[in-house]
Amino acid sequence: MKVRAVVNSNNISGLIERTLNYVDPRLVDHGKRVASLVFGMLTVQDKYTPREVQDICILSMLHDIGAYKTEEINRMTQFESEDVWEHSIYGYLFLHELSPLKEWAKAVMFHHVPVSGLPDTLEKNISETAQMISLADRIDMYLQSSSDIETLLRYLEQVRDLKFDGHILDLFYEAEQRFSLLSSLKEKKDFRRILPEIQLTEQECEDYLKMMIYAIDFRSQHTVTHTITTTSISVSVARCMGLPESQVRKIWYGALLHDLGKIGIPVEILEYPGKLSPQAMTIMQTHVKLTEEILGGTIEEDITRIALRHHEKLDGSGYPRRLPGDELTTEERIVAVSDIVSALLGTRSYKGAFSRERTLSIIEEQAREGKLDCQVVKVLKENFEEVLETVEENCRPVLDTYYGLHKDYQRLLGKYL
Ligand SMILES: [Fe+2]
Ligand SMILES: [Fe+2]
Ligand SMILES: [Fe+2]
Repeated sequence: MKVRAVVNSNNISGLIERTLNYVDPRLVDHGKRVASLVFGMLTVQDKYTPREVQDICILSMLHDIGAYKTEEINRMTQFESEDVWEHSIYGYLFLHELSPLKEWAKAVMFHHVPVSGLPDTLEKNISETAQMISLADRIDMYLQSSSDIETLLRYLEQVRDLKFDGHILDLFYEAEQRFSLLSSLKEKKDFRRILPEIQLTEQECEDYLKMMIYAIDFRSQHTVTHTITTTSISVSVARCMGLPESQVRKIWYGALLHDLGKIGIPVEILEYPGKLSPQAMTIMQTHVKLTEEILGGTIEEDITRIALRHHEKLDGSGYPRRLPGDELTTEERIVAVSDIVSALLGTRSYKGAFSRERTLSIIEEQAREGKLDCQVVKVLKENFEEVLETVEENCRPVLDTYYGLHKDYQRLLGKYL
């Protein structure tokens, strides 16, 4: 669907940063520092176009994105860590399948491989990028626990052409001379000055946003298509109700963003196979607050409200604000209903998928009890077959990607581990 950009070059990187911060703040800050070191190395050579520089820097920032799934974060942060294939492989596949960085993604797979171990078949710019990230990664890890730069430089020379390509080391020394990267990182100065200005098209911003959504939904096999289903139902219902396209667009974005904060909820709670304890439920409900923090006031207000109110109920029994019905707009009510329908129709760790009939009867009951909007539920019921057909069409490619990704992950793990 073509909609006016709500995410743009100005807010997308903040959105990505804040989202990943909830996985582990170390990931983001480390990613940014690595990106600034790599940017230094790219700047001292005039081989890459500004576009390529930008792509490689975003890739560098996201190089450990696979760790959100494979939980290698602790092992990763040790200076000489082994066993880092899981996040390298998952990160590569994830970026290859789900980000606009497809052509560079392979560098992520090899960002922990010594130069002597890189396959000969690797394209030159990929192996160079992998080496730049690898070197930057090690330097940053080192500086987090020591400020002894002499020892670091001595170590780098010892492993010249074994661990790190001599040519890449020389690029780093040149960049260090020009930008004093090490002291910037050591003194935790603002290393943003050593990062390129991000210029992205509308389509790319949307693709990065979707990448984040999949990063969240793909954490649990039960939620792979949750956001896409909620979004699809919301848009279909809005159109059936005859809402103007400008409102449909807001609904589309609001539904897309509604569960962003789930990135900060532990998988054990997301996948708990039964009724959650009151404590776990409280944690689960904080996802709305987390979404609010991630959006950080950078997205249009109407859209933010749709995202933040999907658990409110018309009788004031919802959360987090227990808002009464007269404060909830049609757009907000549509997404609230769609979210429930998506959850009922899907499997969850605590339940199987409900039939269409059972799903309808549950939301009809909630409408009768004054919790859900009767008109929205009525329109949904009248158009249920078509609405679900569209859901299926929208979900199929996502499921294919998800299962393909897991198959490739197992295959590559077998090959390299
Ligand atoms: Fe890594
Ligand atoms: Fe939610
Ligand atoms: Fe949801």
